[in-house]
Amino acid sequence: MKKNKPMALYKIIQQQGFGTRAYCQAMIEAGEVTVRGELCDDPDALFDLEDLSFTIQGQAWDYAPFVYVLLHKPAGYECSQKPKFHKGILSLLPANLRARDVQPVGRLDVDTTGLLLLSDDGQFIHKNISPKKNVNKVYHATCAEPITDDFIAQLKTGVLLKDEDETIAAVDARALSERVLELTLSEGKYHQVKRMVVAAGNHVMQLHRMSVGEYVLPEDLAVGEWRLI
Ligand code: URA
Repeated sequence: MKKNKPMALYKIIQQQGFGTRAYCQAMIEAGEVTVRGELCDDPDALFDLEDLSFTIQGQAWDYAPFVYVLLHKPAGYECSQKPKFHKGILSLLPANLRARDVQPVGRLDVDTTGLLLLSDDGQFIHKNISPKKNVNKVYHATCAEPITDDFIAQLKTGVLLKDEDETIAAVDARALSERVLELTLSEGKYHQVKRMVVAAGNHVMQLHRMSVGEYVLPEDLAVGEWRLI
Protein backbone atom coordinates (compact mmCIF):
# COMPACT_ATOMS: atom_id res chain seq x y z
CA MET A 1 0.00 0.00 0.00
CA LYS A 2 1.26 3.50 -0.87
CA LYS A 3 2.44 5.31 2.26
CA ASN A 4 1.50 8.98 2.68
CA LYS A 5 4.37 11.43 3.02
CA PRO A 6 4.65 13.21 6.39
CA MET A 7 2.96 16.62 6.28
CA ALA A 8 3.46 19.93 8.08
CA LEU A 9 1.10 20.34 11.03
CA TYR A 10 -0.44 23.61 9.80
CA LYS A 11 -1.26 21.95 6.45
CA ILE A 12 -2.86 18.95 8.10
CA ILE A 13 -5.08 21.12 10.23
CA GLN A 14 -5.96 23.40 7.36
CA GLN A 15 -6.85 20.39 5.20
CA GLN A 16 -9.13 19.06 7.96
CA GLY A 17 -11.14 22.29 7.69
CA PHE A 18 -10.00 24.20 10.76
CA GLY A 19 -9.34 27.52 9.01
CA THR A 20 -7.03 29.40 6.69
CA ARG A 21 -3.31 28.75 6.53
CA ALA A 22 -2.54 31.86 8.62
CA TYR A 23 -5.22 30.99 11.20
CA CYS A 24 -3.96 27.41 11.56
CA GLN A 25 -0.34 28.59 11.92
CA ALA A 26 -1.40 31.11 14.58
CA MET A 27 -3.40 28.50 16.56
CA ILE A 28 -0.40 26.18 16.61
CA GLU A 29 2.00 28.95 17.66
CA ALA A 30 -0.42 29.97 20.41
CA GLY A 31 -0.15 26.45 21.90
CA GLU A 32 -3.75 25.50 21.05
CA VAL A 33 -2.90 22.24 19.28
CA THR A 34 -1.78 18.91 20.69
CA VAL A 35 -0.74 15.97 18.54
CA ARG A 36 -1.02 12.41 19.83
CA GLY A 37 -1.45 13.89 23.31
CA GLU A 38 1.53 16.29 23.23
CA LEU A 39 1.57 20.03 22.71
CA CYS A 40 3.17 21.10 19.42
CA ASP A 41 3.72 24.81 18.79
CA ASP A 42 5.72 24.46 15.57
CA PRO A 43 3.46 24.89 12.52
CA ASP A 44 6.07 23.28 10.26
CA ALA A 45 6.62 20.16 12.38
CA LEU A 46 6.12 17.11 10.15
CA PHE A 47 3.75 14.30 11.08
CA ASP A 48 2.94 10.94 9.64
CA LEU A 49 -0.77 10.86 8.78
CA GLU A 50 -1.29 7.29 9.92
CA ASP A 51 -3.46 7.07 13.08
CA LEU A 52 -3.01 10.78 13.68
CA SER A 53 -5.12 12.20 16.46
CA PHE A 54 -4.99 15.76 17.70
CA THR A 55 -6.88 18.34 19.72
CA ILE A 56 -7.53 21.83 18.46
CA GLN A 57 -8.65 24.40 21.01
CA GLY A 58 -9.72 21.46 23.16
CA GLN A 59 -11.67 19.69 20.41
CA ALA A 60 -10.50 16.12 19.77
CA TRP A 61 -10.12 15.13 16.13
CA ASP A 62 -8.76 12.09 14.29
CA TYR A 63 -7.14 12.80 10.93
CA ALA A 64 -9.34 11.54 8.12
CA PRO A 65 -8.66 11.91 4.40
CA PHE A 66 -12.44 11.99 3.87
CA VAL A 67 -15.32 12.41 6.27
CA TYR A 68 -18.62 10.53 6.24
CA VAL A 69 -21.45 11.98 8.27
CA LEU A 70 -24.80 10.58 9.40
CA LEU A 71 -27.26 13.39 10.06
CA HIS A 72 -30.73 13.05 11.57
CA LYS A 73 -32.40 15.63 9.36
CA PRO A 74 -35.13 17.65 11.00
CA ALA A 75 -38.18 18.94 9.12
CA GLY A 76 -37.87 22.53 7.93
CA TYR A 77 -34.34 22.27 6.50
CA GLU A 78 -33.38 22.42 2.83
CA CYS A 79 -30.71 20.07 1.45
CA SER A 80 -29.54 22.61 -1.10
CA GLN A 81 -26.08 24.19 -0.74
CA LYS A 82 -27.65 27.62 -1.13
CA PRO A 83 -30.98 27.38 0.67
CA LYS A 84 -33.61 29.87 -0.47
CA PHE A 85 -36.66 29.53 1.74
CA HIS A 86 -35.56 27.61 4.84
CA LYS A 87 -32.46 26.96 6.87
CA GLY A 88 -29.88 24.74 5.16
CA ILE A 89 -28.84 21.35 6.53
CA LEU A 90 -25.18 22.42 6.43
CA SER A 91 -25.95 24.91 9.21
CA LEU A 92 -26.36 21.85 11.51
CA LEU A 93 -22.69 20.89 11.03
CA PRO A 94 -19.61 22.42 12.70
CA ALA A 95 -17.48 24.95 10.81
CA ASN A 96 -14.63 22.50 10.10
CA LEU A 97 -16.95 20.06 8.31
CA ARG A 98 -18.59 22.86 6.33
CA ALA A 99 -15.12 24.13 5.37
CA ARG A 100 -14.29 20.67 4.00
CA ASP A 101 -17.12 21.11 1.55
CA VAL A 102 -19.16 18.12 2.65
CA GLN A 103 -22.20 17.58 0.45
CA PRO A 104 -25.44 15.71 0.98
CA VAL A 105 -25.63 12.27 -0.59
CA GLY A 106 -28.87 12.85 -2.50
CA ARG A 107 -31.62 15.07 -1.16
CA LEU A 108 -34.60 14.89 1.15
CA ASP A 109 -37.56 17.26 0.86
CA VAL A 110 -37.83 20.15 3.32
CA ASP A 111 -40.54 18.35 5.29
CA THR A 112 -38.85 14.91 5.23
CA THR A 113 -37.00 13.78 8.35
CA GLY A 114 -34.50 11.01 8.97
CA LEU A 115 -31.19 9.75 7.67
CA LEU A 116 -29.11 12.00 5.45
CA LEU A 117 -25.53 11.03 4.60
CA LEU A 118 -22.99 13.73 3.84
CA SER A 119 -19.41 13.44 2.65
CA ASP A 120 -16.53 15.15 0.88
CA ASP A 121 -15.69 11.89 -0.91
CA GLY A 122 -17.03 12.19 -4.45
CA GLN A 123 -16.80 8.46 -5.13
CA PHE A 124 -18.84 7.64 -2.02
CA ILE A 125 -21.49 10.18 -3.04
CA HIS A 126 -21.66 8.79 -6.55
CA LYS A 127 -21.84 5.19 -5.36
CA ASN A 128 -24.80 5.95 -3.15
CA ILE A 129 -26.84 8.06 -5.56
CA SER A 130 -26.14 6.48 -8.92
CA PRO A 131 -29.30 4.68 -10.17
CA LYS A 132 -27.03 1.95 -11.60
CA LYS A 133 -25.72 1.00 -8.16
CA ASN A 134 -29.17 0.01 -6.82
CA VAL A 135 -28.64 1.25 -3.27
CA ASN A 136 -31.81 0.58 -1.30
CA LYS A 137 -33.38 3.38 0.73
CA VAL A 138 -36.02 2.56 3.33
CA TYR A 139 -38.74 5.10 4.15
CA HIS A 140 -41.59 5.22 6.62
CA ALA A 141 -44.49 7.16 5.18
CA THR A 142 -47.55 8.09 7.22
CA CYS A 143 -50.45 8.06 4.77
CA ALA A 144 -53.68 10.04 4.76
CA GLU A 145 -55.86 7.00 4.05
CA PRO A 146 -55.71 3.47 5.51
CA ILE A 147 -53.29 1.19 3.68
CA THR A 148 -55.00 -1.53 1.65
CA ASP A 149 -53.72 -4.76 0.09
CA ASP A 150 -54.42 -3.29 -3.34
CA PHE A 151 -52.31 -0.20 -2.55
CA ILE A 152 -49.37 -2.39 -1.46
CA ALA A 153 -49.77 -4.60 -4.54
CA GLN A 154 -49.72 -1.57 -6.88
CA LEU A 155 -46.51 -0.25 -5.28
CA LYS A 156 -44.83 -3.62 -5.67
CA THR A 157 -46.00 -4.26 -9.23
CA GLY A 158 -45.27 -0.76 -10.43
CA VAL A 159 -47.08 2.56 -10.77
CA LEU A 160 -46.92 5.17 -13.51
CA LEU A 161 -45.69 8.50 -12.18
CA LYS A 162 -46.87 11.76 -13.69
CA ASP A 163 -44.47 12.87 -16.46
CA GLU A 164 -42.74 9.44 -16.65
CA ASP A 165 -43.00 6.93 -19.51
CA GLU A 166 -42.38 3.72 -17.62
CA THR A 167 -43.89 2.26 -14.49
CA ILE A 168 -41.73 2.14 -11.40
CA ALA A 169 -41.93 -0.51 -8.69
CA ALA A 170 -40.84 -0.55 -5.07
CA VAL A 171 -38.22 -3.09 -4.00
CA ASP A 172 -40.55 -3.78 -1.08
CA ALA A 173 -43.70 -2.29 0.43
CA ARG A 174 -45.50 -3.29 3.61
CA ALA A 175 -47.94 -1.83 6.11
CA LEU A 176 -46.43 -1.26 9.57
CA SER A 177 -49.77 -0.08 10.95
CA GLU A 178 -53.11 1.13 9.59
CA ARG A 179 -51.56 4.20 7.95
CA VAL A 180 -47.79 3.73 8.16
CA LEU A 181 -46.14 2.33 5.07
CA GLU A 182 -42.60 0.99 4.90
CA LEU A 183 -41.33 1.49 1.38
CA THR A 184 -37.96 0.35 0.02
CA LEU A 185 -36.74 1.99 -3.18
CA SER A 186 -33.57 1.55 -5.17
CA GLU A 187 -33.80 4.79 -7.18
CA GLY A 188 -33.95 8.36 -5.96
CA LYS A 189 -36.26 10.19 -8.34
CA TYR A 190 -37.60 13.61 -7.45
CA HIS A 191 -40.32 13.29 -4.74
CA GLN A 192 -40.38 9.58 -5.56
CA VAL A 193 -42.10 8.28 -2.43
CA LYS A 194 -44.77 10.96 -2.46
CA ARG A 195 -45.43 10.55 -6.19
CA MET A 196 -45.61 6.74 -5.97
CA VAL A 197 -48.05 6.92 -3.06
CA VAL A 198 -50.25 9.38 -4.98
CA ALA A 199 -50.10 7.20 -8.10
CA ALA A 200 -51.32 4.26 -5.99
CA GLY A 201 -54.28 6.31 -4.67
CA ASN A 202 -53.11 7.61 -1.27
CA HIS A 203 -51.24 10.66 0.05
CA VAL A 204 -48.12 11.07 2.24
CA MET A 205 -48.68 13.14 5.37
CA GLN A 206 -45.24 12.56 6.91
CA LEU A 207 -42.06 11.03 5.53
CA HIS A 208 -39.05 9.69 7.39
CA ARG A 209 -35.98 7.90 5.98
CA MET A 210 -34.69 4.99 8.03
CA SER A 211 -31.69 3.85 5.99
CA VAL A 212 -29.56 4.23 2.89
CA GLY A 213 -27.83 1.01 1.85
CA GLU A 214 -25.96 -0.35 4.85
CA TYR A 215 -26.33 2.88 6.84
CA VAL A 216 -29.19 2.92 9.32
CA LEU A 217 -30.34 5.95 11.32
CA PRO A 218 -29.05 5.23 14.85
CA GLU A 219 -31.86 5.12 17.42
CA ASP A 220 -29.85 7.31 19.79
CA LEU A 221 -29.13 10.05 17.23
CA ALA A 222 -31.51 12.87 18.15
CA VAL A 223 -33.19 15.04 15.53
CA GLY A 224 -30.71 17.65 14.25
CA GLU A 225 -27.67 15.74 15.55
CA TRP A 226 -24.87 14.30 13.44
CA ARG A 227 -22.19 11.67 13.88
CA LEU A 228 -19.10 10.63 11.95
CA ILE A 229 -19.28 7.13 10.49
N1 URA B 1 -39.19 10.73 -1.74
C1 URA B 1 -39.91 11.85 -1.49
O1 URA B 1 -41.02 12.00 -1.98
N2 URA B 1 -39.38 12.76 -0.67
C2 URA B 1 -38.17 12.64 -0.09
O2 URA B 1 -37.74 13.52 0.67
C3 URA B 1 -37.44 11.47 -0.35
C4 URA B 1 -37.97 10.53 -1.18
